[in-house]
Amino acid sequence: MQNTEKVDPEFDQYAHSYAGLLEDPMRSLFALDPLHFHRRKWILIERLLKNAGMNLSTLKWLDVGCGQGELLGLAGSNFAQAIGCDPSASMLSKNRAVEMHEQPSPVVLPFGDSSVDFVTAVCVFHHVHGRARTLLTSEIRRVLTPGGMCCIIEHNPWNPVTRAIVKRCPVDVDAELLTARKASVLLQTAGFETVSTDYFLYFPERLFNRLISVEKMLCKIPLGGQFALLARAPA
Ligand SMILES: C[S@@+](CC[C@H](N)C(=O)[O-])C[C@H]1O[C@@H](n2cnc3c(N)ncnc32)[C@H](O)[C@@H]1O
Repeated sequence: MQNTEKVDPEFDQYAHSYAGLLEDPMRSLFALDPLHFHRRKWILIERLLKNAGMNLSTLKWLDVGCGQGELLGLAGSNFAQAIGCDPSASMLSKNRAVEMHEQPSPVVLPFGDSSVDFVTAVCVFHHVHGRARTLLTSEIRRVLTPGGMCCIIEHNPWNPVTRAIVKRCPVDVDAELLTARKASVLLQTAGFETVSTDYFLYFPERLFNRLISVEKMLCKIPLGGQFALLARAPA
């Protein structure tokens, strides 16, 4: 039976001071501008989709757990349509510039079957626990068109700096980090085929532009600050 209870008051509490709560001296060594982390994600997502032969301008993109919609604001114009959803109405209320919908529950997405071509879930699954992880993954599969793509981006528990930042971040008090292997099993159990796993966030903002090719070379070494897992829904 699906859990249809509306939970996650947690992010409703964080919404009014979200950017401040993420501040951390170690995180600031990597980037002063919080948008930098979204830009890094977008650079990788765009490369992965293009490598998979996807034509972005024809795709409908859904960002699950979009929070305040920064990634959608940054990259949405590359797609035919870009929408987000999140169980936290307060997080969504901080951004009126992009189309975002409130989820009726943490494991229900307010969209029809086979209604989107591409789904992202960025730093969401470490806030989802127990059986809700499987239920949310099945929901992602339900809303994706056959053969549609899903990209999960998560903190990499193998990276000691990531672990240290997560440990003292108030927003991550409930965090249960998952390895790329665990994320892959989650998706495969829901019927997805893993396309690629890439590790990124090796270098701080000030070095990244010069070392972008080195970061690409390191993408299969499981030590980057985060990882992106790309998977295809069954055709
Ligand atoms: C760390 S924030 C990340 C927000 C955004 N994806 C980003 O990268 O800035 C985690 C978000 O996941 C949302 N979330 C938690 N449980 C969720 C669930 N079961 N389904 C969808 N979103 C969820 C929270 O409300 C919150 O907005």
